[in-house]
Amino acid sequence: MRIFDTTLRDGEQAPGIDLTVEQKVMIAKKLADLGVDVIEAGFPASSEGEFISTKRIFEEVGDQVEVIGLSRSNKNDIDKTISTGISSIHLFIATSELHMKYKLKMTKEEVLDKIYESVKYAKDHGMVVEFSPEDATRTEEDFLFTAIRTAIEAGAERINIPDTVGIMHPFKYYDMIKKIVNFVGERIIVSVHCHNDFGLATANSLAGVYAGARQVHVTVNGIGERAGNASLEEVVMGIKKLLNYETNVKTWKLYEVSRFVAEMTGVPVPYFKAIVGDNAFGHESGIHVHGVIENPFTYEPISPEEVGNFRRLALGKHSGIHGLRKLLEEQGIYLSDDKLKIVLAEIKKLAESGNKVTVEDAKNIALKLMNS
Ligand code: KIV
Ligand code: ZN
Repeated sequence: MRIFDTTLRDGEQAPGIDLTVEQKVMIAKKLADLGVDVIEAGFPASSEGEFISTKRIFEEVGDQVEVIGLSRSNKNDIDKTISTGISSIHLFIATSELHMKYKLKMTKEEVLDKIYESVKYAKDHGMVVEFSPEDATRTEEDFLFTAIRTAIEAGAERINIPDTVGIMHPFKYYDMIKKIVNFVGERIIVSVHCHNDFGLATANSLAGVYAGARQVHVTVNGIGERAGNASLEEVVMGIKKLLNYETNVKTWKLYEVSRFVAEMTGVPVPYFKAIVGDNAFGHESGIHVHGVIENPFTYEPISPEEVGNFRRLALGKHSGIHGLRKLLEEQGIYLSDDKLKIVLAEIKKLAESGNKVTVEDAKNIALKLMNS
């Protein structure tokens, strides 16, 4: 399964995220090292900074990973993209009625001509072409298939199906991708690209993969337009653990890369974020902590080491004796069960009066008891 990372293109399109060329190059190096198959470095025709960063990323990591640039379906954009030195191009044009009428102000025939001419032009210049019918999931089915056929006839090797405004649900996207996979045949790679407007980007991406897509677009931490894109961490782990397919991603580096991107973009990782959130492997309740101490698999479907995250055992009003014993023993403090019960009661009292109880607090309570 190919992982196409668009953190540096769709991710960076989010309001408030503006990376410098140097920052983009640093992130690209991390992504190459993580093992993604494709890095969408930017949109070269959109600004001088995007042009330079795409060029620099290609120079720095182009020997390790495929570097691709986004381009509108016109010659000027394509020429600009080619002049960065890269040899893969992601061409797009909208195909839904809504976008063609209000945004492009073009007829269907004009859009089909643009698709054919631009894909052919890029192919004639030796590019690998991935084509996206933008707003595919709101495109009239017959026209979508005509657009896809046109792109393939002009030479496109990969067809990406963007759920541009995130209006799919997994059952519907599965059916759609299945039909497209059957339509294009083995020779063409079908790719999925999901936005998270209904919180379904990961679920939809997995449905697409399950339906036969062989490539998936993702961003680190799910950053992107509006509610974001499908998150790399969730999709990669879902593919690995739920679908049992392989990717080239070194999953134990996921946490580190996630934090790096959070630092560079200034967008923090949510506490409850799957895989890379601070609470993704957090446990407080006595029952859960006890289970995890005996066998982590009782309450952890993935081990934190597998994704480079950490198990965090917390103390609070839900704590139990097993967790407390473990935390204190890690601090070199060994207490009898009776004494542990006294410490636990103190901890619960503290927590119930609205305090956050730390391991340091538990240690102090235990030491006071030992010295009394
Ligand atoms: O969401 C989208 O439609 C896109 C396209 C440019 C592929 O990002
Ligand atoms: Zn997008």
